[in-house]
Amino acid sequence: MSAKKNLDLGSFAQDVLLGLSSKPKSIPSKYFYDATGDKLFQEIMAMPEYYLTRKEFEILENQHEAILEKILSKKEPFNLVELGAGDGLKTKILLRHLDKVGAEYTYFPIDFSGTVLAELKESLADELPNLEVKTIEDTYRGSLLKREWENGRPSFILFLGGNIGNFPLKEAHDVLDHLRIGTVFGDEVLLGFDLKKNPQTILDAYHDKDGVTREFNLNLLRRMNRELGANFVLENFMHWPSYNPVNGECRSHLVSLKNQNVDILDLNQAFEFEAHEPIFTEISKKYSLSEIKKLAQRSGFELKESFLDQDRYFADVLWERI
Ligand code: AVJ
Repeated sequence: MSAKKNLDLGSFAQDVLLGLSSKPKSIPSKYFYDATGDKLFQEIMAMPEYYLTRKEFEILENQHEAILEKILSKKEPFNLVELGAGDGLKTKILLRHLDKVGAEYTYFPIDFSGTVLAELKESLADELPNLEVKTIEDTYRGSLLKREWENGRPSFILFLGGNIGNFPLKEAHDVLDHLRIGTVFGDEVLLGFDLKKNPQTILDAYHDKDGVTREFNLNLLRRMNRELGANFVLENFMHWPSYNPVNGECRSHLVSLKNQNVDILDLNQAFEFEAHEPIFTEISKKYSLSEIKKLAQRSGFELKESFLDQDRYFADVLWERI
């Protein structure tokens, strides 16, 4: 492995090199999710401030029959493809219903984290032993270009959790263009969007009192220390989230608290941080219902139905490929 390292930096090292050489500095948020990050995200989902998971859970619990009605009415075998499957806790609501009505389908969970997929596969073998599961370890766009599930059957694609919010609008357009490439006429997509709401409610979800989200962000520095031989001093960085109600962008930063140099051995390079210089770590974009409708239209999908929780905090929208 170490012989290979000199020839091929690996995608994490490459993305860190690119991100820390840019102005402003940044690191892609997909690197949050190593074993520690996966665990911290589980903690985040259980926090009182982080309403997203609970609201989407409520939607799926109360409205799964309506959500699955169309695909089941086709009365033919289909593919259930999930982009960013995670722990599958919410998806299992749908899987259990499909099991109950005896639907014939294959579940293709896609995730960037191999650990997450292995755990999901194990828990599904336990709970739904008859379910056919084919895991795919890839990015959203990589998997949509390869379409490993393609077998002539219709597809129902899940893109839940508000994961689309992790892209600024232009890049979200690009991901949705890939979603169009990855589907055929008549396929259905269920997308989770966190909705615009009281700015304080949103900010609190990314600025919890116990500092779990802070740890989640600092884990990026820990990960560079461990995996790339970096020497970040965590105390020298401060977690700073902000929410802009104009464009719906909630953005997280790690702000350098002083002038400092950080060496990254594997990149054979030192990086200079000025006092108060930020590293942009994550965007979680919020949408209005009218913005979601426009997004469907420009992406080549028809908005069929929007499913909301009682507080109207979150929406799972059903799009059909046209
Ligand atoms: C998993 C992308 C939906 O953006 O809300 C939670 C990740 N980041 N707290 C989000 C996250 C900080 C989460 N998503």
